Amino acid sequence: MRTQFIGAIGQNLTMTDPSAPGPWWRDAVIYEIYVRSFADGDGDGLGDLAGIRSRLPALADLGVDAVWLTPFYPSPQADGGYDVADYCDVDPRFGTLDDLDDLVATAHDLGLRVLIDIVPNHTSVEHEWFRAAVAGPGAPERDRYLFRPGRGPEGDEPPNDWRSVFGGPAWTRITEADGSPGPWYLHLFDGSQPDLDWTRDEVREAFDEVLRFWLDRGVDGFRIDVAHGLAKDPAMPDIGGRFARGGVAAEGHPHWDRDEVHDIYRRWRRVIDAYAGDRVFVAEAYLGGAHRLARYLRPDELHTAFNFDLLLAPWDADAFRGAIDDSIEHLAAVGATPTWVLSNHDMVRHLTRYSGGEVGRRRARAAALLLLALPGAAYLYQGEELGLPEVTDLPDAARQDPTFHRTKGREPGRDGCRVPIPWEGDEPSYGFGPTAASWLPQPADWAGLGRREQAEDPTSMLSLYREALRLRRPLPGPDEFAWIDAPSGVLAFGRGDGFSCVVNMGDDPVAWSPPAATPTIALSSAPVDPQGALPAATAVWFES
Ligand code: GLC
Repeated sequence: MRTQFIGAIGQNLTMTDPSAPGPWWRDAVIYEIYVRSFADGDGDGLGDLAGIRSRLPALADLGVDAVWLTPFYPSPQADGGYDVADYCDVDPRFGTLDDLDDLVATAHDLGLRVLIDIVPNHTSVEHEWFRAAVAGPGAPERDRYLFRPGRGPEGDEPPNDWRSVFGGPAWTRITEADGSPGPWYLHLFDGSQPDLDWTRDEVREAFDEVLRFWLDRGVDGFRIDVAHGLAKDPAMPDIGGRFARGGVAAEGHPHWDRDEVHDIYRRWRRVIDAYAGDRVFVAEAYLGGAHRLARYLRPDELHTAFNFDLLLAPWDADAFRGAIDDSIEHLAAVGATPTWVLSNHDMVRHLTRYSGGEVGRRRARAAALLLLALPGAAYLYQGEELGLPEVTDLPDAARQDPTFHRTKGREPGRDGCRVPIPWEGDEPSYGFGPTAASWLPQPADWAGLGRREQAEDPTSMLSLYREALRLRRPLPGPDEFAWIDAPSGVLAFGRGDGFSCVVNMGDDPVAWSPPAATPTIALSSAPVDPQGALPAATAVWFES
């Protein structure tokens, strides 16, 4: 056992004037609803808007401030709806525009805001623009995408060496209507997701209208899909060995995080600023550090962006502390608020990343208290409040993620975090819908993880989240944060004078004493004895 003690308050990392009242999103907790897997109203095994609406009271009860809905637009569903065929409608599988309006109204009645997903980097091949683009070489719609001639004497090699994020080349060749081989189109994701050419005015204007369409319907903001991918180097140079493969950007990259994207977000900011009610953008941007993220958050650009550094960090105190410091310091420079996240529909669930089983569960409980004590906004991914693990044993035949298919099964893909969630453990499909149908098979041992079962158990993950969200409310503004000296492997920080959070991220108990200014335990992720050692993988909230 180590014998250091938690001591004096460290340097205060004040970000902006702490007395200034901020808009709601500066310290909100926003709950990601993966629409296909949250609640199925009609029993076909696929989640839908009516199902979501019927279950919103459970989220109000949990205590979140807002929901983010993943795409519900008409779509062939080649990438779970991130392949949009019509940006201004609802896919009949999920409902109708009226259902969406009803959902927004119900959410607002319950005090919940609603963010929706906008997917500007690419459309579906089923979008009317792309259908027109492939109908003939002279179609003006072809210019809205990134068509290029192939290389080699026959043009039968891709125009460059760019790779799809989902595996394989980022180019697909079309066949013209007369049967002759045509040019290639760029798709940074699946072949069914052709990238748009954002240098084109008609693309920019169309998306202004999409934003207005939804803002007029009362949505409170947008999560911007692949926000760092919209601009491409017009020379389209080979990447060669210059950059690591994968989704994280690096400076000077020909298609990630290029300077030109910022013009687009300045334009979008002007659109959203015309609306009352603190509407908000949150960018999905996997970048090489918070200094790059801060550029998206300059005062005339986006309001917030996910900080994925915590999500990408291993369960390690130094890694977490580095990610937290980096984010707070760089975002402070532009007056932006941090936005933390541990899991989403693209990543292995954090309980499993943190070793799974009882160890993972214990760490996930501690991580929840850490996440919800940090300054700024927090995003929860549906099911983390139930302690759901990643489902790692889905049969190949059930897998739907294009990553699995494009890598010929080498990468399992993201289905394991998208399994429909349990509500009532003793119902068919665990209450996901009124029938036993579920678009991905649910594990046989999830009955005890049902929301209803957990609501009745004060020691459950759900009870921990609910209590943390309740206690979080009166926390001081996002600007008040200060590290407290702590032993190696322990993170400790204060939020104003009356609250502190201490997390032992190590595998051994640590001798300790509560921070002097906040001696009273308000909540802990595991039982703690104030006179004894702080157990391994345990977080404690203190108040004065
Ligand atoms: C984002 C989404 C992911 C999708 C991809 C392509 O990363 O979160 O689910 O596959 O964009 O749209």
